[in-house]
Amino acid sequence: SGLAEFVVIANRLPVDRITGPDGETTWRKSPGGLVTALEPVIRRKGGAWIGWHGAAGEKLRPFEHEGMNLVPVPLSEEEVEEYYEGFSNATLWPLYHDVVAPPEFHREWWDAYVRVNQRFAQKAAKIAKKNAVVWVQDYQLQLVPTMLRELRPDLRIGFFLHIPFPPTELFQQLPWRRQILEGLLGADLVGFQMPGAAQNFIRLVRQRVGHKTHRDTVYLPDGRTVLAQAYPISIDAAGFEELARTPEVIARAAEIRESLGNPKVVLLGIDRLDYTKGLRQRLRAFGELITEGALDVDDAVFIQVATPSRERVGQYILLRDDINRLVGRINGDVGRIGQQPVTYLHASYPREEMAALYRAADVMVVTPLRDGMNLVAKEYVACRYDEKGALVLSEFAGAASELKSAYQVNPHDINGMKQMLLAAINADPRENARRMKAMRRQVMENDIDLWAANFLRELNAVRDPHAKNP
Ligand code: G6P
Repeated sequence: SGLAEFVVIANRLPVDRITGPDGETTWRKSPGGLVTALEPVIRRKGGAWIGWHGAAGEKLRPFEHEGMNLVPVPLSEEEVEEYYEGFSNATLWPLYHDVVAPPEFHREWWDAYVRVNQRFAQKAAKIAKKNAVVWVQDYQLQLVPTMLRELRPDLRIGFFLHIPFPPTELFQQLPWRRQILEGLLGADLVGFQMPGAAQNFIRLVRQRVGHKTHRDTVYLPDGRTVLAQAYPISIDAAGFEELARTPEVIARAAEIRESLGNPKVVLLGIDRLDYTKGLRQRLRAFGELITEGALDVDDAVFIQVATPSRERVGQYILLRDDINRLVGRINGDVGRIGQQPVTYLHASYPREEMAALYRAADVMVVTPLRDGMNLVAKEYVACRYDEKGALVLSEFAGAASELKSAYQVNPHDINGMKQMLLAAINADPRENARRMKAMRRQVMENDIDLWAANFLRELNAVRDPHAKNP
């Protein structure tokens, strides 16, 4: 039959449908860490991926793409505004990232969120084989586990949150806090990036829903249990290293440095253009180092790639203008003819170009104000098999608890960040090699296959959902 034994559900499919100016449609890799992490999992394991294809108002049939079975879920123009741009990305996203931008609460957005979650749950209920494993992903779909269990009590249901889960006092702001907690409790296993996030969840379930809990386990009145645990996500580390070793990537990296005039130091940032990423703080730190003469405009170049993201959401429009102005000011103030300290690229690039940039960069600068994990940091490490280069990493990225040998910074502390950038730039190459070696041990061993295997092993160990109470 066409039914699937393993199903991934995420807001997005791994590819977006793009319509060119001539009306021709093509597929492009979707943005963000979730797809980077999960695409190799579905490629190796098989199964189906349910998600939105990125175009509003278009209905598509299930299709195969590079061997993956993709099942599109349509979203109307209004649902894109209310469920995706609204509740997911103007309510939950800022709320879950320490309210670094103010979350907006609108009842119509919530209604759309419920409706769309129901549609995803119905789609999964229709395509999952008996006793199949269904793995629901991320903050856009937190109601799906319970909705799906009501439709299909035979399934094993896992949920993984790719972004931070907020401290309880922030979560309480949400008018629909109880519904979200109850939605998640439909899963057998709820995974988070960090142990603290799992603990926040358990505490909220006890306080707000009133269920009994012990350590990482919730005891539901019907005898079912729900586990909440941390599974720090990763990347296809070997795949990135292999890519970075290809002659094409090596040549392209040299070409990039050449076209910048072979500066002594290349610093690099690669992020979705998002207000959680600390772009402003990092550019200010770099700009000041140049104006104050700690770095020479002839010696140092900062390449910032900012991938367009959620472009119609208010806070993202403001950020884009803000970064445009800031980059213009730095280049205008301290640039010279043929010498632009900041190369700013508002675009998305294929994996090969990213790998070349990682190879070309002496210092990788990853300074989010809050980040679930941050896979760009891990990609950089995976690509530096030469044990060269340095990683400057925010304490507020999940990756900081694994990449202890990075140059860690508090992105709010501009002076501290300036000092740390200089330390990374001026370090003895042996010191940077020692740090890189330690980080590579971490990243190469704990890759995405291990992550998926750990999660799915625990999910499969959950008591058989049919078994009645002992
Ligand atoms: C983060 C989220 C993903 C999301 C991605 C890209 O990685 O955790 O769920 O898909 O950003 O954002 P977008 O809104 O373009 O899907």
